[in-house]
Amino acid sequence: MSGRFITFEGGEGAGKSTQIARLSRRLADRGIEAVTTREPGGSPKAERIRQRVLAGAAKPFGPLAEALLFSAARIDHLTETIRPALERGAFVLCDRFSDSTRAYQGALGDIDSNLISALEEATISDTRPDLTFILDVPAATGLARAAERRRNAGQGADRFEREDAGFHERLRDAFLDIARREPGRCIVIEGNRDPDLVEADIWNSVAERLLAGTATVMEASPADG
Ligand code: TYD
Repeated sequence: MSGRFITFEGGEGAGKSTQIARLSRRLADRGIEAVTTREPGGSPKAERIRQRVLAGAAKPFGPLAEALLFSAARIDHLTETIRPALERGAFVLCDRFSDSTRAYQGALGDIDSNLISALEEATISDTRPDLTFILDVPAATGLARAAERRRNAGQGADRFEREDAGFHERLRDAFLDIARREPGRCIVIEGNRDPDLVEADIWNSVAERLLAGTATVMEASPADG
């Protein structure tokens, strides 16, 4: 039995966590086990790396060192959380994965893409996502959303939220570029819309690509009604 691996990517404040919760609920409603997890983190040891990296501890060592630390966290996350869930047939819904390393450290940190590919091969090997949603929102919109979420939670900006608007615009292009290169795996979702519409688009893609042949039927988007 092998489950399905779905990753959610995009810039800050793109709405990934809301949509992961909604997809998880829809799968559960149909009796499908959905494991929701996140990167960096998703296992106790990887969460410890998360704390340090997002506090900026690795920044002085440069983007390659940060990529190595995100990869170290990923190895543990795969071993402890992702692979066991896939092996028992669950759907794994992961908030960020290797495309974030490719975009944040690779494209923005100017690390050679062959080096990033070699790192992916060594880290994730054949546990590649079946489907990746890239939630696309204008950088300014996403940053404003992320700032509001932080204010409500009484938190300060993390290592990457502190980067300037230009960084976040280039980040958006980096994710769109990944989607262009791998259209079979990646689906770009316009995230700057009513969350119900975003949810319906995501559900229809999951139903079409990963649930075809099961009893699940596609739903009309709320906008169609
Ligand atoms: P998080 O609070 O989870 O942010 P978000 O809600 O935007 O997903 O913080 C994760 C941060 O780590 C985010 O700024 C992206 C960054 N990151 C990388 O730079 N490389 C990576 O490989 C991963 C997984 C995350």
